[in-house]
Amino acid sequence: MKITKLITASAIIFLSQTSYASNNEEGEHLFKTYCDACHGMTGGMDMRKRIAPPIAAVRMHYIGHYQDKTSFINAITGWVDKQDPNKSLMRGAIRRFNIMPPIAIKKEDAIKIASYIYEGNLQQPAGMEEHVQQQHKKGGMKFSQ
Ligand code: HEC
Repeated sequence: MKITKLITASAIIFLSQTSYASNNEEGEHLFKTYCDACHGMTGGMDMRKRIAPPIAAVRMHYIGHYQDKTSFINAITGWVDKQDPNKSLMRGAIRRFNIMPPIAIKKEDAIKIASYIYEGNLQQPAGMEEHVQQQHKKGGMKFSQ
């Protein structure tokens, strides 16, 4: 009897952990499906080879303005829903790459992606931080407006 209880308890703990992990995994999977082709690692930090900023750079700009998770998620999903240049935090990126095209995606999926980006466990191309610092010195990037 005791053993059965122990097994049941372990199974419950195991299941609750897996469902927790799969929340982030789902966000990551959705990111790969909808965003990674443009915001992924392809092209590294070579701006001639990139078509959009790496997502870690996008996060860096957004976390500077929207520290708490709810406003961060609102800002990212708001942008994905409608690319309003007046709300851009990356005007230099718009000049360089042109404005992001509209993405057909369900709101609930965009929320999961935004939450995954907020968690911050993202790959970033080598040299990204140096690039950001350089642009910052040139005055091309403003973290607080
Ligand atoms: C077809 C390419 C493409 C795809 C797919 C794409 N983006 Fe973008 N995105 C861009 C480009 C180019 C920029 C830089 C120019 C700009 O800011 O509009 C950008 C910028 C952004 C910005 C910063 C906007 C700003 O100016 O403040 C956010 C946030 C963003 N993308 C989120 C996402 C998310 C989340 C996804 C997936 C749901 C996604 N993007 C998919 C091309 C893309």
